[in-house]
Amino acid sequence: MAVGIFDSGLGGLTVLDAVTRRLPDVPFVYFGDNAHTPYGVRDPEDIYNLTTRGVERLFAAGCDLVILACNTASAAALRRMQDGWVPKDKRVLGVFVPLIESLTERRWGDNSPPREVAVKHVALFATPATVSSRAFQRELAFRAIGVDVEAQSCGGVVDAIEEGDEILAEALVRSHVDALKRKMPNPDAAVLGCTHYPLVEEVFRDALGPDVRVLSQPELVASSLADYLERRPEMLGPGTVSQFLTTGDPRKVSSKATQFLRRRIAFDPA
Ligand code: DGL
Repeated sequence: MAVGIFDSGLGGLTVLDAVTRRLPDVPFVYFGDNAHTPYGVRDPEDIYNLTTRGVERLFAAGCDLVILACNTASAAALRRMQDGWVPKDKRVLGVFVPLIESLTERRWGDNSPPREVAVKHVALFATPATVSSRAFQRELAFRAIGVDVEAQSCGGVVDAIEEGDEILAEALVRSHVDALKRKMPNPDAAVLGCTHYPLVEEVFRDALGPDVRVLSQPELVASSLADYLERRPEMLGPGTVSQFLTTGDPRKVSSKATQFLRRRIAFDPA
């Protein structure tokens, strides 16, 4: 009954942590494409090819349902995968829809037509590939009318976090928030649209100020997944063991992951 969690590298561990806490009895198979991270600076074709390869590996590990924890893969590859690549008995879901459902105050999985919503000005912080895909705006337009989105491409933040350079990560977040505020001085809400940003969420909150509602993905994805599995329990695949798979060097990735989550994690080769 395993569920797959796909990410370009280690960032998806923020999502894995939240889903594991929410669904302690479900085995999760995590796939980190560390050999090809970061995805945020790749082109859509490349992201599509890498993502489908990783998701195939998760299907082979007994997962019928795979969550793309990676926003960049969700933005650049998911729609194309759902339009013909995903086999009939499998599902691949992304991380934008739960976020947008929360932002527009919908029930999980509510696919009713778009309507007027309370939120009017939304700031999106994400990688360059996510911003240029405009996938967030497209998914939002399916659910809400009259919402203005200003996207800020946050170059450098993922690398600074991966390298453990907290001072640089904080400085970059503050300068990206300043740049966003020059374009949209008073957002009602801010979306942290990248797996790594929950690790610097407090800096985003501080730079944005107390009047901005900050939406961070891990808890929202966990809650929407719990609801999905209640509605579709048959999507729990045949896999029975939790695993961590990487395309990178398992020893190096395990040691970085252990630092990242502050608990021991052992990766196997994908
Ligand atoms: N996991 C990616 C995301 O959420 C960030 C890291 C990358 O650029 O690969 O967009």
